[in-house]
Amino acid sequence: MAVIVVGNEKGGAGKSTVAVHLSVALLHEGAKVAVLDLDQRQQSTAHFFVSRERWVAANQAALPQPQRLAGDDVDAALAAAQDCDYVIIDTPGADTELSRLAHRRADLIVTPMNDSFVDFEVLGVVDPLTLDLQRASHYSELVWEARKLKAAERGRPLDWVVLRNRLASVDPRNRRRVDERLKALARRVGFRTLAGLRDRVIYRELFPFGLTVSDLGPGVRPVPVSIGHVAARQELRVLLTELGVVQGPATILAAE
Ligand SMILES: Nc1ncnc2c1ncn2[C@@H]1O[C@H](COP(=O)(O)OP(=O)(O)O)[C@@H](O)[C@H]1O
Ligand SMILES: [Mg+2]
Repeated sequence: MAVIVVGNEKGGAGKSTVAVHLSVALLHEGAKVAVLDLDQRQQSTAHFFVSRERWVAANQAALPQPQRLAGDDVDAALAAAQDCDYVIIDTPGADTELSRLAHRRADLIVTPMNDSFVDFEVLGVVDPLTLDLQRASHYSELVWEARKLKAAERGRPLDWVVLRNRLASVDPRNRRRVDERLKALARRVGFRTLAGLRDRVIYRELFPFGLTVSDLGPGVRPVPVSIGHVAARQELRVLLTELGVVQGPATILAAE
């Protein structure tokens, strides 16, 4: 069982969006997935999967469902999900005890980050001229701490990836600048960077149904299908491959 924690101390970075898309994409890969939402206030991911059950039941759709975990005892939840392949944990945009514990239990931390320098400082502060890292951020230190504790307590490594989210279709200059600084920081702070997700309506418009673009197919069409959906599926496919959670042919694309 692999624990994937989606974390970033900033709200609105795309944690819940990534958590549900990742969970559903893995379900369509045939994986047994459990989900836990530790954002007690928002509960976006928890609500998404409740909506999903209702939508699927009302439409008699044959869609895979995860095991829904609840409560604030992370270890008890993980124990209950022992026979799953993946546990996806969504976390709040704040440093809470629960979130810290979840980070320590992670095999993989996925940190979505808006493609903006405003969000960049959640990872570290770099010198504006030399790009040297002036200091790691509070969140980076939290991940480091989690890494150390995890290695000491369980003897297992922790992989950390930063995923740029809501990439604009036209903004090559900003993207290049963020890219350069992110690469410099990645070496210093110890994360990998991934290609990321574009800003797409399809990543938010299916949310109220408890569906993602990976679900669309015969009998599952709450919105008209467009060419952008194919691109979004492909993007998610690349994400799964880059995360190392799937290999091989594009099975997500096969449903159409
Ligand atoms: N790639 C994306 N494309 C379009 N909208 C997005 C994307 N990622 C996030 N959003 C939107 O941005 C807002 C914040 O995302 P959310 O996943 O709730 O962030 P967090 O959980 O980190 O607070 C939501 O309205 C969500 O629908
Ligand atoms: Mg959220």
